[in-house]
Amino acid sequence: MRISVIGCGYLGAVHAAAMASLGHEVVGIDVDEDKIAALTAGRPPFFEPGLGDLLIRGREQGGLEFTSDVSRVREAEVHFVCVGTPQKPGEFAADVTYVDAAFESLVPYLTSSSVVVGKSTVPVGTAQRLAAVLADTGASVMWNPEFLREGHAVDDTLHPNRLVYGVAPGEDGQRAAAALDGVYRAILEDGTPRMVTDYATAELVKTAANSFLATKISFINAMAELCEASGADVTLLADAIGMDDRIGRKFLNAGLGFGGGCLPKDIRAFMARAGELGADQAVAFLKEIDSINMRRRVRMVDIARDALHGSFIGKRITILGAAFKPDSDDVRDSPALAVARLIATQGGVVTVTDPEAIENARRMFPELRFVADTTEALTGADAVLLLTEWGEYRNLDPDVTASLVAGKVLVDGRNVLDPVVWRDAGWTYRALGRP
Ligand code: UDX
Repeated sequence: MRISVIGCGYLGAVHAAAMASLGHEVVGIDVDEDKIAALTAGRPPFFEPGLGDLLIRGREQGGLEFTSDVSRVREAEVHFVCVGTPQKPGEFAADVTYVDAAFESLVPYLTSSSVVVGKSTVPVGTAQRLAAVLADTGASVMWNPEFLREGHAVDDTLHPNRLVYGVAPGEDGQRAAAALDGVYRAILEDGTPRMVTDYATAELVKTAANSFLATKISFINAMAELCEASGADVTLLADAIGMDDRIGRKFLNAGLGFGGGCLPKDIRAFMARAGELGADQAVAFLKEIDSINMRRRVRMVDIARDALHGSFIGKRITILGAAFKPDSDDVRDSPALAVARLIATQGGVVTVTDPEAIENARRMFPELRFVADTTEALTGADAVLLLTEWGEYRNLDPDVTASLVAGKVLVDGRNVLDPVVWRDAGWTYRALGRP
């Protein structure tokens, strides 16, 4: 099928490349010329395992193109809107201006056989509102939320655990669903479950899923606070409660908490939207989820300062990790960088290292010192803070690391190192939620 993808960020670039790999003819549209040039050359503009291969294959086979010329959407039958919905400055609500602009930019090129599929995460009610904007074109509008995780985006797009189609009532919805079935034929033939719902339910599925995940993480981090108060070990607690398959062990890793471009802004946008709908009490608990998450960053700083006998002044602190999670170069609302900045403002001499995210991190916090090489970053440190659990940091050897640093103080912000091994090697090992 002929497909256009509007917005080639973390979501759209992967979606475009993945759809081309299924045999479709795809044109990806973005206003950022640098991004278009990189994607056209087969270079992912951000770190995402597997994306480079798909881009190169798409280019070689000829089914994948990127351009800033929006009129190219004219050739497509199905249009995916994949632009961002960031948090509005100074507010909790999501900024949907890019989604609105994307829909409006399509209007001149749509016909009654076109299908416009929103994938961006939007406040409930957006699909209905935008369907009215396109009404005169005769095009069908549907919402097909995306659940991909950064770092696993290619696999999550090609092998999702479910497909959700939010459609208009009646024949229009059936026609749109049939078109999307055509796009996802190979995925459906793999046995992927598909649910067809109304617009509002599809929009809420995404927000509810992210709220649940955030709640799970903050729940275990609240337990970590209790473990700190009582001398218990939150990692053992998580293992034990996670064995109950009604609870499950996934997303119960206590530590520095969640960040990134989705969970924090999605729970805030959800609170804002619920307020507009007069249902703010229903999600008032998300404020506490957000607070628990933010407290972990402050607690991390307190533990590190305590391990350095009460002051950061003049102390060299090496922070392992800048990305909001491993296997990503995304630093949006990165807990690691938030901690780095807090320590720097308290007089610490901070060095941050990361395998992939240094350039993005430097752009966001130019006042911090960034070093790409782990050995160089560790050399002379008075304390080491592991804040993003890249494989390289999980596998650090305590003796080799000891030979580099000035002080053998390690704070494990992600509970991924073995305290016994590090303490046996002479380190002061501290962590969140562990004795
Ligand atoms: C998330 C959702 O998982 C995905 O379905 C949605 O489409 C977009 O938002 P992503 O932001 O890529 O994906 O990251 P995710 O893997 O969910 O991690 C989010 C944050 O939670 C990270 O900062 C991670 O470090 C943290 N986390 C995750 C924990 O602190 N503990 C855990 O147990 C799991």
